[in-house]
Amino acid sequence: MDPDYVNSIPLSTYRFALSKKSLQVLDEIGSDPEYGGASDAGTMSMLYTLIHCCQMHRVLQLGTWIGFSALILADALMKTNDENNPSVLYTVDPAIPQAMKARAYIEEAGLSGVVHFVDGKSTDREVVEFLEAKAPCDLIYIDSYHGYSVAREELRIYWPLVRFHGFLALHDSSEFAASFDPENEGGVIRALKEWIPLAPDCEALFMRQPVWQNPCGFFLGTKKELS
Ligand SMILES: C[S@@+](CC[C@H](N)C(=O)[O-])C[C@H]1O[C@@H](n2cnc3c(N)ncnc32)[C@H](O)[C@@H]1O
Repeated sequence: MDPDYVNSIPLSTYRFALSKKSLQVLDEIGSDPEYGGASDAGTMSMLYTLIHCCQMHRVLQLGTWIGFSALILADALMKTNDENNPSVLYTVDPAIPQAMKARAYIEEAGLSGVVHFVDGKSTDREVVEFLEAKAPCDLIYIDSYHGYSVAREELRIYWPLVRFHGFLALHDSSEFAASFDPENEGGVIRALKEWIPLAPDCEALFMRQPVWQNPCGFFLGTKKELS
């Protein structure tokens, strides 16, 4: 298994809740040579808990990679799924070989019924139009390109798709993670700092070291109704 995956196990609260099959497939993903880049244990524990405690049914993820976080989100959604109120995870990525791998892992875990894969970039017109038609979402989780300009666009496009009292979560929202910006323009944190003052309906929470264990940080915005 990947050493980072092994180190994440004691911090992964969701492991207590995952089905036996999901856990088995997750450990397979943890041994995949392309595991690197998967979301950290704190983030995934938080998101799993939110889906469960808020009994969410509609979740959107930007950045599937090989399906590590998609599998955890889908396992939580499988438990809220019912025939009168079906649960679904929409997960978007332009990297087709990795998305194919993700499809295979999700199928192996028996979670295909609650996952809809969307091939393309978060900012592609067809992708945006498709997802706008599925809104509003209970939770949108962004862990995609990490560049400032794309993150700014994603905030502009996807915040309106979050339902009232729903959540927007962003990975890699720390100052440290600004170094992941391929264009070196300030990354996710710059986009958030500029966007928050423009979004008075967003209650913003930054999870940061030393309290937050992962140096990449985690952002959670809740949509409040403005009076
Ligand atoms: C850090 S990985 C995501 C890891 C995933 N959240 C997990 O926990 O396994 C980032 C992913 O974002 C994808 N990506 C890059 N630009 C994107 C965009 N504009 N829209 C959607 N996904 C994008 C990459 O192809 C890559 O698969």
